[in-house]
Amino acid sequence: MRVDVVTLFPGFVQQCTGFGVIGRAVERGLLDVEAWNPRDHAEGAYRRVDDTVCGGGPGMVMLIEPLRRALAAARQAAAEPARVIYLSPQGKRLTQDKVKELAGLPRVILLCGRYEGIDERLLEHEIDEELSIGDYVLSGGELAAAVLIDAVGRLQEGALGDSQSAEQDSFSDGLLDCPHYTRPVSHEFGDVPAVLVSGDHAAIDRWRRMQSLGRTWLKRPDLLENVALDEQDRRLLDEFKREHKGQPHEQDH
Ligand code: ADE
Repeated sequence: MRVDVVTLFPGFVQQCTGFGVIGRAVERGLLDVEAWNPRDHAEGAYRRVDDTVCGGGPGMVMLIEPLRRALAAARQAAAEPARVIYLSPQGKRLTQDKVKELAGLPRVILLCGRYEGIDERLLEHEIDEELSIGDYVLSGGELAAAVLIDAVGRLQEGALGDSQSAEQDSFSDGLLDCPHYTRPVSHEFGDVPAVLVSGDHAAIDRWRRMQSLGRTWLKRPDLLENVALDEQDRRLLDEFKREHKGQPHEQDH
C-alpha cells in the first residue's frame, strides 16, 4: 500500500515510519510512505503557505494553491487512484472498521492541516473523506496521520509476524481483546489463570471468549450494543457477570 502525506513537516511523518512493525513493513516494501511539502509548491521569496483569516479573527489559514499543487504532485507520483483524506477534529471518528477498509486500498493521500485550518474551498474540491482520531484538538494533522499509517500499516499482508495477531485484536470482532500472560506462571503479583496452562485448547478458547465478552461489558459496555451475541456468548457473559458480581464501572466514552 502507498500512503502520500501532504504536510508542512515531512520529517515528522518519515520519523514515525522508522520503528517496529511499521518500520519493518516499510523495509519489506509492504508499505510505502512519501511526504509532500506544500512549501515546495508555494510562490515568492517567502514561499508563503498561509494568510490571515477573511472576516478577521486570530490565526492563519492555509492557502489553496500550495496545497492544490502538492496534492496534484502526490496524485501524479503513482498510477493507482488515491482516496484523499483530510485529518481534522471535525471528521468522522476513525474506527477499526474504517482502518480495515482503508488498509484494503492500494493508495491513500493524507492531508494535514496546521494553523486555524485550510481554506474551505480547497477541502470542497479536493477531499474525498474527513477523519478524526478523537474528540480533542491537536496542533496539526501529522500525529493523526501517523496514527492512521500505523493502524493500516500493521494490517498489510505479512506486516505482523503471526498472521493471527490481527484477527485477535481488540475491536476486530467488535469486542475488546482478552487478557494475556507470559512466564513466570507464579509471581508475587499473582498466578497465570490455571486454564491457560492446562493444555485444554477448547477450554482456553472458551475462557478467552468469556474474558473478551466480560471485559467489553466492564470497560466499554457501549460496544456490546452493536455486537450480535449468540446463545453461547450470552451464556459465557452471564457466567462472567456472576463471577464479577456488580455492575460495569461507569466510564467516560
Ligand atoms: N487535527 C487536529 N486535531 C485532530 C484530530 N483530533 N483528529 C485528526 N486530525 C486532527
